[in-house]
Amino acid sequence: MATTHDYTTFDPKTYLYEYYSTLAPENIALLRFLVNSFKDVAPHCLTLDFGGGPTLYTALVAAGKVHNIHHSDYLQANRDEIQTWLDGDANAFDWREAVSAVLELEEKDSTLHSIAAREKAIRQRVKCVLPCDATQATPIAGMEQTYDVLVSNLCLEAVAKDLEQWRQYLRNVTSLLKPGGRLIMAAVRGGRAYSVGKVVFHVLPIYEEDFMSALPDAGFDKESVCIEWAPADHPVHPYDGLLFVTATKG
Ligand SMILES: C[S@@+](CC[C@H](N)C(=O)[O-])C[C@H]1O[C@@H](n2cnc3c(N)ncnc32)[C@H](O)[C@@H]1O
Repeated sequence: MATTHDYTTFDPKTYLYEYYSTLAPENIALLRFLVNSFKDVAPHCLTLDFGGGPTLYTALVAAGKVHNIHHSDYLQANRDEIQTWLDGDANAFDWREAVSAVLELEEKDSTLHSIAAREKAIRQRVKCVLPCDATQATPIAGMEQTYDVLVSNLCLEAVAKDLEQWRQYLRNVTSLLKPGGRLIMAAVRGGRAYSVGKVVFHVLPIYEEDFMSALPDAGFDKESVCIEWAPADHPVHPYDGLLFVTATKG
């Protein structure tokens, strides 16, 4: 199967439609991981979603906890898609079903009023939508501050061509985290590819042991690393499942 790394061919609307328009078991597993990971995050914690693409999963959860969230992605088209939703544009993707699922996972009521309140909180608390590039030593150009919480989902294994690059990009991205800060990362386990419409993107296969060796090298306490995984919700998927990783920077 011919795969590409050319993200200029990535279509945000098609991606959202194909991966985020239903709450499949993998979507719920990712939301549950985020809800559990944010349970004890304090309101003052500055939070970054790195390579968040056109998706708001991190913000849907983080906005229930923290006051300041930065969303970032490499592609202008993805950043525009997020901004469209933040601006309340009628053509923006509808995240209400996912918001409702988040509220249920948080054991809160998921009435229309509560969903609207969380949407309002997201619009208030996502303070900026920034360009980012994991291949750069300074992955958010001009960024002087560091973050208390750094979330990155399904990103680095989609960008890196080999394990050496993946380890370098992990070091680049986690340089944005403060000492003592928390990394919250979901990754495709044993992936090969993923399609967006007719375009098939490359995915680097990564496993628990790759995180176990790369995270201490990137400055994380080995004892703080926690890794779980959920199997793919369909056997024909070109990956084993999703890895869920948390770690604290030393
Ligand atoms: C599989 S998508 C994941 C998007 C989103 N985080 C999610 O959970 O659905 C991979 C993302 O990596 C982004 N990307 C591509 N090249 C990148 C780079 N050099 N640095 C950072 N992100 C990049 C793409 O724009 C895309 O949003």
